[in-house]
Amino acid sequence: MRLRHIPGCEAFVEKSLHVVREPEQYKGKWAALFGNHRPIDLEIGMGKGRFLRELSMRRRERNFLGLERYASVMMKAIQRLEREQEMLPAEERCGNLKFLCEDAGRLTEFFERGEISEIYLNFSDPWPKASHANRRLTSPRFMRLYDQILAPEGRVEFKTDNRALFDWSVEAIPQAGWKLVSLSYDLHGDPAAMDNVMTEYEEKFSSRGQKICKLIAVR
Ligand SMILES: C[S@@+](CC[C@H](N)C(=O)[O-])C[C@H]1O[C@@H](n2cnc3c(N)ncnc32)[C@H](O)[C@@H]1O
Repeated sequence: MRLRHIPGCEAFVEKSLHVVREPEQYKGKWAALFGNHRPIDLEIGMGKGRFLRELSMRRRERNFLGLERYASVMMKAIQRLEREQEMLPAEERCGNLKFLCEDAGRLTEFFERGEISEIYLNFSDPWPKASHANRRLTSPRFMRLYDQILAPEGRVEFKTDNRALFDWSVEAIPQAGWKLVSLSYDLHGDPAAMDNVMTEYEEKFSSRGQKICKLIAVR
């Protein structure tokens, strides 16, 4: 993602009520933050947050967390969520979506074993250089972190338009001890994916005719 620093973005994010500050203090206590014991799903690298805004409205019986490391991007996600919520009647606004402005490398500082039900990786940065492979969010390094925070039946869902990253992930994820239970090389052409929720990147790339790939991994 091309990044432009927005002056004041850190302060804006810091005071937003949508953002959980010092998330390490909620390790093992996220149910208390949400005020219920519903499953908690996590998107890592959520960007401007379109996917989670829609999913959290569709699935009110679950809680959602969006992790994004850059404050400039997080600021846009917050502004879009606020704009959307302002247009809704008060009774339709739901409190099941919170954001974390943090790096995924710290996941195990924030979540207790089994505390997350599902992880979404959408259009993750490809890090094309081989020397940067362990920065890819589907690398064995990150899969080990997901193993530590996911519930036993938990799943990792990964979507991308980047065929090289997808092919690499299809090999790397099983090598890290996970099973691929679903694999699609043309998600939008798959009738079983009727309920797919699009991300900002997904809309951009699919409108240019690029095929979207998706896999689901379990342990
Ligand atoms: C290519 S964008 C995709 C955004 C969004 N998921 C979508 O599909 O439209 C990837 C996002 O992941 C974030 N990101 C990459 N690595 C991350 C990490 N280690 N921790 C948190 N966020 C990360 C980037 O800052 C960027 O906003």
